[in-house]
Amino acid sequence: MSPENIPEPRYREALREAARIISQGPPGAPALERICSWLRRGFSHYSWVGIYLLEGRELFLAAWDGEQATEHTRIPLDRGICGMAARERRTVTVDDVRSSSDYLACFLDTRSEIVVPIREGGEVLGEIDIDGKAVAAYDASDRRFLEAIAVQLIPPARAVLAAPPGRGSGGASGSVRGSGT
Ligand code: SME
Repeated sequence: MSPENIPEPRYREALREAARIISQGPPGAPALERICSWLRRGFSHYSWVGIYLLEGRELFLAAWDGEQATEHTRIPLDRGICGMAARERRTVTVDDVRSSSDYLACFLDTRSEIVVPIREGGEVLGEIDIDGKAVAAYDASDRRFLEAIAVQLIPPARAVLAAPPGRGSGGASGSVRGSGT
């Protein structure tokens, strides 16, 4: 979805800003990290923002920004809300994670989660995973906005996936980073 198709001016302008953030600076993993950080700092209902990429039957955490690190740096496709979104190739929104049997717990204060696949054609390259502290924090505006961001993330996601083996090793390579603030 292009910025022109996003009804809310705030999100429309933010999409243009996202394109600048992705293109201005080192590509690949650093671009994913910049977007995580910018999303979290710009949108108060995005408490934790991560980008997982798909390697075989497993998602690995390529970038994140939030108060705390997650223990879920690798998620098999058959686990969690993250696995569901990748398997079903669709955005999954959970209004209250306490009532979801699929939810993999990361943070005690998380109530909502939205997971948006990064897709190119029929192929899932990865996903944006966002946690919020309020029940039902995410609506159709968030979904439209984040789906448009996901399209912009195809080139940096492709670049990370094309990098030599080792970048998805769950932290040992140094590519799994976050601000931790
Ligand atoms: N809650 C996710 C796991 C990732 S953490 O939220 C960072 C899930 O259920 O798949």
